[in-house]
Amino acid sequence: MPADLNPIDNAKFVAARRAVDFVEDGMKLGLGTGSTAAWMVRSLAERVRDEGLRVTCVATSRRTAELAVGLGLDVRTLDEVKWLDLTIDGADEFDTHLNLIKGGGAALLQEKIVATASDQMIVIADAAKEVAQLGAFPLPVEVIPFGWRTTKALVEETLVSMDVIGREVTLRMTGDQPLRTDGQNHILDLHLNRIGNPRQLSLVLNQIPGVVENGLFIDICDTVVVGHPDGRVQVR
Ligand code: 5RP
Repeated sequence: MPADLNPIDNAKFVAARRAVDFVEDGMKLGLGTGSTAAWMVRSLAERVRDEGLRVTCVATSRRTAELAVGLGLDVRTLDEVKWLDLTIDGADEFDTHLNLIKGGGAALLQEKIVATASDQMIVIADAAKEVAQLGAFPLPVEVIPFGWRTTKALVEETLVSMDVIGREVTLRMTGDQPLRTDGQNHILDLHLNRIGNPRQLSLVLNQIPGVVENGLFIDICDTVVVGHPDGRVQVR
């Protein structure tokens, strides 16, 4: 275990390390994005080095690909590999049905494509990410830059028509510039407080022209590995 981890990073680390136990020799793996997923990539690289495990990996972002390649993992494109056995990724929130909000790290599009191409998705999270109802974390929506203000207005109208309580929509920035995802798109963050019907909201958002994908992962995650600051781990 790395020395000097704060309690939250320790929770992320123990969840990530436990999830890597599910990896078997010969597997094709999806590698998630974020600080918890980065611990998973490091733990996986250790098993590959120490046990001679052979795995083929597809990364969900450029930064995960750089980390994984730097640690000696075999990273391919999804087009080369096509279908995966298992994806391990973090999340911003998960509920009791294992539905998720993802995209805090702006990688939701590739994350959803990779998770959907996988037989199994395991989410790794610290216990603070568990919620009774999704929505306290702003819901990321990836939109194409062309006409993003119009797309934002359509998203706002949709929220009004669906009687959603929180309706503030903000463009995610890096410094004074709109953030660009790996796909060169923008991210709108929807401040909703709580999401009554995540399945319906996800379907409706994806029908708006200009929306590429949203950060609700419904019926995609199979297992959540929850890490606690004191080092305990639960598998749900
Ligand atoms: C990136 C994600 C991440 O998995 C999510 O933001 C969790 O990040 P972290 O593990 O750093 O808390 O969805 O798009």
